[in-house]
Amino acid sequence: MAQKATQAATGESPIDRKRINKLTEQQMARFREHTPASAEYFDRARKVMPGGVPSSFQLNDPWPVYIDRGKGALVWDVDGEEYVDFHNGFGVMCIGHANPVVGEAVKARHDLGTHFAAPTNGSIVVAENLKRRFNLPQWRFTNSGTESTMSAIHLARGATDRDYIIKVEGSYDGHHDAVMVSSYPGLEEVGPLERPNPIAFGAGYPQALVELTRPVPFNEPEILEGIFKEFEGKIAGMIIEPAMMNINIIPPKEGYLERVRELCTEHGAHLIFDEVKTGATISHGGATQRFGVQPDMVCLAKAIAGGYPGGAIGMTEELGEVVYSDKVHQIGTFNGNPLVMAAAEATLTDVLTQDAYEKLESTNESLKERCQEIVDKYGLPAYTEGMGAKGCVIFAPERIYGYRDYLTKVDAELATLAWLYHMNHGIFMTPGVEEEWTLSIAHEDEHIDRYVEAFESFASDVTGS
Ligand SMILES: Cc1ncc(COP(=O)(O)O)c(C=O)c1O
Repeated sequence: MAQKATQAATGESPIDRKRINKLTEQQMARFREHTPASAEYFDRARKVMPGGVPSSFQLNDPWPVYIDRGKGALVWDVDGEEYVDFHNGFGVMCIGHANPVVGEAVKARHDLGTHFAAPTNGSIVVAENLKRRFNLPQWRFTNSGTESTMSAIHLARGATDRDYIIKVEGSYDGHHDAVMVSSYPGLEEVGPLERPNPIAFGAGYPQALVELTRPVPFNEPEILEGIFKEFEGKIAGMIIEPAMMNINIIPPKEGYLERVRELCTEHGAHLIFDEVKTGATISHGGATQRFGVQPDMVCLAKAIAGGYPGGAIGMTEELGEVVYSDKVHQIGTFNGNPLVMAAAEATLTDVLTQDAYEKLESTNESLKERCQEIVDKYGLPAYTEGMGAKGCVIFAPERIYGYRDYLTKVDAELATLAWLYHMNHGIFMTPGVEEEWTLSIAHEDEHIDRYVEAFESFASDVTGS
């Protein structure tokens, strides 16, 4: 069985365990029955890739669903089964699959040459667009979210000549050493809420480095203040997802981000918004615009490049100088790759327009409302949350505000069963208890109807109504 590092939630809602277990067995059998080709691919793939997947976040029991192709809101697996895609490549494909506008731009760029490791017009246009969206004057490019957060942390450290950084407990900010800390720690190791233990997320990270990353609970400004005081003069920066999106979705409490901003300024630390998930999905200017708090750096990737591997970091003029002076080396062969820039330019200027964000928001509101109606009708211990293109049903009987709530209140068995129902009813969803749906501009009412039908069949069976 694949061990998913992240499924640590231990909440147990009042839903009858025997019923959950019985339905899980049934749905797992059904899943196996309709994915035989994926099983064969899995057997082949595991001989050449650990776990049969290119990235461990794609691991899944009993096997991953191998995808053949996608078009608009739909994907087809290697068995030829059609699904409406709400996974959307971990929140990348807001433009819909095989988007013709992005396709044309990429094809045109291909014929003009795809890589020079010299700047092209595309990189200027994309930087200009991101500057308008995020209100930060200087931009650099990377190839992934991990590279974006890594560069941002190098920059915070280099600019301040300090070593410590603060990150949020239960946040996943990429897989480099500085942030593979307290991403999904177990309850037995987290330590006191006021001073959480820094816990390496897996092996391979020297403890000396782990100690330099100080975790704080989300939505707890007093605790953050305490950590800043304890490490006075040592904190280079704080990296934070303005709305947490790797343990379902947790929005910031009123005034929290403003206080984070104040504390960073007061203590001479750079505020880094990890907008890898929120950036191009929750509004035209991401969380920065949506919540109205200005960070010193914004890290982007995922949806900005329309399905191509691109990332970006926005920064203040002062931090731009640190890069320009080469005090901190922000470098990479593929940074600003013309093909990726062509995809990003088409995505940001022609596809994900203001109108597109309005459509995503209203489709999301409708999906959330309809899921909430089902939650209420069947008395499920759950609620809906979301913004922009992102949303989820959180299987907790009351609101969660941070990682420890997630760990103790979310019913992972119920969430896993809901995932199986979706996958068995033609809805392609992110595996894992902690994820959310991502809408694309290709989602229409009929697709939302299909999601709601699948969810209702789950709700009805699991509550025996
Ligand atoms: C908030 C956040 N930051 C950073 C990353 C890392 O991005 P990538 O997988 O492109 O390296 C992720 C990936 O899921 C993420 O969700």
